[in-house]
Amino acid sequence: MKCKITNKKIEPFMSFGKMPISNNFLKKEDFKKEYFFEMEVGFSETISLLQLINHPEPNQMFNNNYPFFTSSSQFMVKHFKQYADWIMQNFLKPNSRIIEIGSNDGTMLKNFVKSGYIVSGIEPSKNCADIANKNSIKTLNSFFSTNLLSQLESFLGNTDAIIAANCICHIPNLEEVFKTVEKLLSKNGVFIFEEPYLGSVFDKVSYDQIYDEHIYLFSVTSIMKIAKIYGFELIDVIEQATHGGSMRYVISRKNKIVSPNVQKYLEKEKLKGHDTLQGCLKFKNDCEKSKEKLVTFIRNIKSKNCNIAGYAATSKSTTVLNYCGIGTKELDCIYDTTKEKIGKYSPGKHIPIVSYEEFTKNYPDYAYLLAYNHKDEIYEKEKEFSLRGGKWFSHVEI
Ligand code: TYD
Repeated sequence: MKCKITNKKIEPFMSFGKMPISNNFLKKEDFKKEYFFEMEVGFSETISLLQLINHPEPNQMFNNNYPFFTSSSQFMVKHFKQYADWIMQNFLKPNSRIIEIGSNDGTMLKNFVKSGYIVSGIEPSKNCADIANKNSIKTLNSFFSTNLLSQLESFLGNTDAIIAANCICHIPNLEEVFKTVEKLLSKNGVFIFEEPYLGSVFDKVSYDQIYDEHIYLFSVTSIMKIAKIYGFELIDVIEQATHGGSMRYVISRKNKIVSPNVQKYLEKEKLKGHDTLQGCLKFKNDCEKSKEKLVTFIRNIKSKNCNIAGYAATSKSTTVLNYCGIGTKELDCIYDTTKEKIGKYSPGKHIPIVSYEEFTKNYPDYAYLLAYNHKDEIYEKEKEFSLRGGKWFSHVEI
């Protein structure tokens, strides 16, 4: 197996088994034709990059009915406002142009539009792009590639910030991303993106960040090397609390001042072995232990005749539920706020998805928080559940 970036050999080191498409919440009549792939991960020692060996084609995942909307979390809406403010303060001048890759429903770009900047969103999922355009946030319904340049004429060599969040790790062809960035970025422009961070995933054993859409799991070491390959430089990194632990990367053209943060994280990753295959093998062992612990924990609850419901039908829960073999015998249903998911069934394990409004009417003994990254927001919203003796748990906290 070859690395998608260096074309050198990568070492497969772990398989999570057969996985469905993580966001393919489906109807009963579609169970029989559900698509599965072997979710194996490998590591390229040359660029210290963890990546999926096989994955579905992007258009199988990001299509007309992508059921994820950034605006579904108030915490994320607030986070994107702060992210936008930080970019405006540090990198923009009046009339700067900004492009967001994977702009979803326009939650992030809205902040720039309000402040009078010229923006273009790029979003492959039509339903999300339509919402943004309806709200007057100019969005092209497409994947980000050089094919788009003719539609972005006024942005060529003139874009002060190309930004993304939880998106770059979804794109198999990073060479094409950097080629497109190269054409669009102004002389002092920056390419800034936030992605789930390998350091947090390894430390917390939050292996559910690995799923079909997340083709890569980046670290500071890997991004530093990748930027170099494509003629850019990593000039700053800032850790983020989002998605259970993310990293913000700031990339620019060469010969700019590099923040000491970069060196700090490079050393930290080296010390922890997060830049080697050895580190991945430890992670594999940790995942197996975590699976055993979760399965035993759930078995104990069920042996006391208690019932369990899942809370928040996240994409990442597809990995945990399928890897650990948790299905309808263990979870009665999963409560969620997304209307596109309600009334359907979870990918692979076919657990019914029920409106979160039903949760209060039918409290389970235990609730498995599948969106542990939104813990504060959800605990606050559902505080009555705990007050009435309900117990929360999640695989990263038992
Ligand atoms: P997120 O962790 O962003 O998901 P993913 O793993 O897919 O990136 O969580 C989004 C899902 O969680 C979405 O299906 C809506 C659901 N959710 C709730 O049901 N209630 C809530 O209060 C929040 C914040 C999310």
